[in-house]
Amino acid sequence: MQTLTITKPDDFHLHLRDGVALASIVNHTAAQFARAIVMPNLKPPVVNTEMALAYRDRILKCVDEKYNFEPLMTLYLTDNTSAEVVKVAAESGVVKALKYYPAGATTNSDQGVTDIRKTAVALEAMMGKGLPLLVHGEVTDHDVDVFDREAVFIDRVLAPLVQDFPDLKIVFEHITTHAAVDFVLQSGGKVAATITPQHMLLNRNDLFKGGLQPHHYCLPVLKAETDRLAILDAATSGNPKFFLGTDSAPHARNTKETSCGCAGIYSAYAAIEMYVEAFDKASKLDRLEAFSSRYGADYYGLPHNEEQITLIKQTQTIPATLPLGDNELVPFRAGGTCSWQLKN
Ligand code: NCD
Ligand code: ZN
Repeated sequence: MQTLTITKPDDFHLHLRDGVALASIVNHTAAQFARAIVMPNLKPPVVNTEMALAYRDRILKCVDEKYNFEPLMTLYLTDNTSAEVVKVAAESGVVKALKYYPAGATTNSDQGVTDIRKTAVALEAMMGKGLPLLVHGEVTDHDVDVFDREAVFIDRVLAPLVQDFPDLKIVFEHITTHAAVDFVLQSGGKVAATITPQHMLLNRNDLFKGGLQPHHYCLPVLKAETDRLAILDAATSGNPKFFLGTDSAPHARNTKETSCGCAGIYSAYAAIEMYVEAFDKASKLDRLEAFSSRYGADYYGLPHNEEQITLIKQTQTIPATLPLGDNELVPFRAGGTCSWQLKN
């Protein structure tokens, strides 16, 4: 049987939520990943180091003691984030980045940035401290087609931002388009990107296959097959600008199977296996470990993990549902299979 042993990976884009939901899901990630960049879009959002430290404690209390899991904390950038907030964050050693959500772009983003120019003071301070800006790259204008929101964001916001703040580290999160891949490739070494399993494995037809598929709805939304191929190529290219970030985002089943469903795909249950499957299908398994376990750490200036994990090429069935506090969630590929499996 084919096996693959790699340095334990890190997830550079993860939603862990809080309270009973957090307790239900965090060990799926801790079983596979040594560290994760934890997104700050709670209600209310994590806007300062004090809140990030308290959130980190709540996360660690839920992690099974058999795992050695380190949450890497982020702050939610707002129009009012001050230079002092950035300074305290940088000096904490615990906060690793700030997340820029355009107001209204996605789940829990209503307190996001209304105009990036309003954040210049924070961005200057981050540049000075070497703290990366993590970007949800979509415009929210209603006149822009939903499938074009990422490409338009590049032209209207990201390209000018990179010009104005050339020394700012920027991670273009969960990229979904050929345009985003090209932009990252053409930008200097400060610009990198995370790639999710769903954007490597699915295209927008999967939103409608056999009927509306709410569990394939995430933001940025799935794109055309040409885009998926560009994302797959980037992830498996061996270019250190592209690294693993699942964007695993749990939502209770009833909030997705409804007349106005939430955006987010829960992939953490078998995330590394889904990536391995995608790399395997592309005959690029030899490139997986750098993407999952080195490039992201290098970008963030973190040491490589010492632990290893082993994966076996053996089909596993993904559960139809998983508990989420008093509710349940429907994971990525629920009731289906994945051709790889983590060895315990
Ligand atoms: C994320 C969530 O649910 O928090 N949803 C999603 O569709 N990706 C937010 C985000 O990263 O956009
Ligand atoms: Zn996300």
